[in-house]
Amino acid sequence: MAYSLMIHGGAGAIRAPERFSGSLKHIVEAGADMLASGAGALDAVARCVSMLEDDPLYNAGCGAVLNADGAAYCDASIMDGRDLSAGAVAGVRGPRNPVLLARLVMEKTPHVFMVGAGAERLGREHGLVFENEAYFATPERLAQLARAKARHETSLDHAATAHGKLGTVGAVARDQAGNLAAATSTGGLVNQMSGRVGDSPVIGAGVYADNASCAISCTGVGEQFLRTALARTAAFFVESQGMDAEAAAREAVAYLVRRVDGSGGLIVVDRNGRCGAARSTPGLLMASARDGRITVGDAGPPAA
Ligand code: GLY
Ligand code: GLY
Repeated sequence: MAYSLMIHGGAGAIRAPERFSGSLKHIVEAGADMLASGAGALDAVARCVSMLEDDPLYNAGCGAVLNADGAAYCDASIMDGRDLSAGAVAGVRGPRNPVLLARLVMEKTPHVFMVGAGAERLGREHGLVFENEAYFATPERLAQLARAKARHETSLDHAATAHGKLGTVGAVARDQAGNLAAATSTGGLVNQMSGRVGDSPVIGAGVYADNASCAISCTGVGEQFLRTALARTAAFFVESQGMDAEAAAREAVAYLVRRVDGSGGLIVVDRNGRCGAARSTPGLLMASARDGRITVGDAGPPAA
């Protein structure tokens, strides 16, 4: 069976999207190489999201945005479409790769969702790499927080930042055995209230994977994706309405806009290996690989 892989680096009004092309291409190629040599979808999405987290261009891991207290709190999730097993963390400080901590929750505990200090302890017990404050609080992120505070605002997406270096990250894949997986990771919103959690770590909102339908990763204003359970909604369109990835992505964004005037986008790989993406924002940073063909680019015109 042919493999399929998509990654995203966030949605918004992206200034100079070409700045991201090299990074997106490099990361999707790394994931494609894994899938081409027989790796599972779960390993490929974990690797791609880890690489996106390690790149300070994106709002996840290194480069995560700072909350109102000046701290970077990360949220991440991962899901295995074979048996609907899933792991997620929210409000964690320090792990270099929050997606790997989410995977530990899935594989090493009987739980799905862990937060804060308990989740961090799990990571330390399993030897995950932790970084100090300075790794996250880059001079650029500190300046961005100061600007947001001066304007008394919470920056929602790429559109709200002068520097446009924001955006949740994610990956979805189907491996050569036909198994699906998805992962999402974020630093949340600039200047968000301490304790705020968005959609990214919530199964069915910011992430979903089921071999019976598709794998999905979302990006956008988390509250709107939570209220519409958007990832599960997109899976429903594939599972029960017979849509392919492209139609389901478009239909999900249309629903997001119609019901909550939502801002963001999503990437989808369906059970047949088709790739789809849609957005209501002016841009969505993304790249895909399907059986050796690499595409770096946008999701076409906004769906609504
Ligand atoms: N800035 C939030 C997101 O792109 O998901
Ligand atoms: N979509 C990421 C967030 O709202 O936190």
